[in-house]
Amino acid sequence: MKADLEMVKAVLSGARKVVALTGAGVSSESGVPTFRGQDGLWKQHRAEDLARPDAFAAHPELVWEFYNWRRGLVGKCEPNPAHFALAKMEEQVPEFLLITQNVDGLHGLAGSRKLMEMHGSLWRVRCTVCTHAREDRSELSDVPECPVCGHMLRPGVVWFGEPLVPGVLRLAIERISGADVFLSIGTSSLVQPAASFFQLAKDHGAVTVEINLEPTPNSGFMDFALHGKAGDILPELVKMR
Ligand code: NAD
Ligand code: APR
Repeated sequence: MKADLEMVKAVLSGARKVVALTGAGVSSESGVPTFRGQDGLWKQHRAEDLARPDAFAAHPELVWEFYNWRRGLVGKCEPNPAHFALAKMEEQVPEFLLITQNVDGLHGLAGSRKLMEMHGSLWRVRCTVCTHAREDRSELSDVPECPVCGHMLRPGVVWFGEPLVPGVLRLAIERISGADVFLSIGTSSLVQPAASFFQLAKDHGAVTVEINLEPTPNSGFMDFALHGKAGDILPELVKMR
């Protein structure tokens, strides 16, 4: 593990183009529950039943209750050393992109700017009917109304069965295809399309690295699989570069 860590450090120090993909695991040390872990948010709250357009159509008040609860929980959490290390990596690498599946906003709070929030943000709301959309960290009412047209607002996240925001996938593919190094951090690699990004990177010649507490279905196909806490490993990777 230590030898692998040193090798990844060496690979990163020579890299010009790096893409990092993160999942819920990168925020777990901040106190944000992961989706599929033992105390997974989705198991306790049946999030898989709630994060769906049909659930919202049938029970908007229930879905909003769930998202307001998540906003309350995440709003008290702060970035951890993994988030800060990725913000530092952005300064060290000439061309860097951080693609996150997380909707918690913690990468931005840690200072990451070259950031793609591919599943949207808990802190964004948009109208279900008109084009109104805004950043909003305030406490929202049970079923908030659009100030422009009066219809319901919805969380600005991507739900199951919904496509990604137009352009997001295209940009991700473009940058991943050109990367020298691809890092997959704290994601179970069970949800598409993010789970396949490493394959695209590999096909285009990138060195692929996974950082996770435990093996994932992708681990065996990675050039390096570093097992441990993202908050321990990432700060090591950006030290004295
Ligand atoms: P998907 O790949 O997430 O799901 C495809 C199908 O597989 C769905 O029927 C889903 O229920 C199922 N599935 C997903 N994960 C599974 C697992 N671990 N085990 C068994 N079955 C599983 O694609 P989608 O439903 O078309 O979602 C599109 C995009 O929206 C994806 O990028 C997804 O990650 C994202 N998404 C975001 C949120 C959120 O709250 N931010 C919620 C749901 C989906
Ligand atoms: N350091 C590194 N990895 C960790 C840590 C940690 N401190 N804590 C947990 N992990 C790992 C777990 O081992 C697991 O593989 O993080 C991963 C979290 O996986 P999931 O809970 O499945 O989260 P994620 O991969 O982000 O889910 C993807 O699915 O539910 C949808 O849209 C939602 O964006 C989410 C997507």
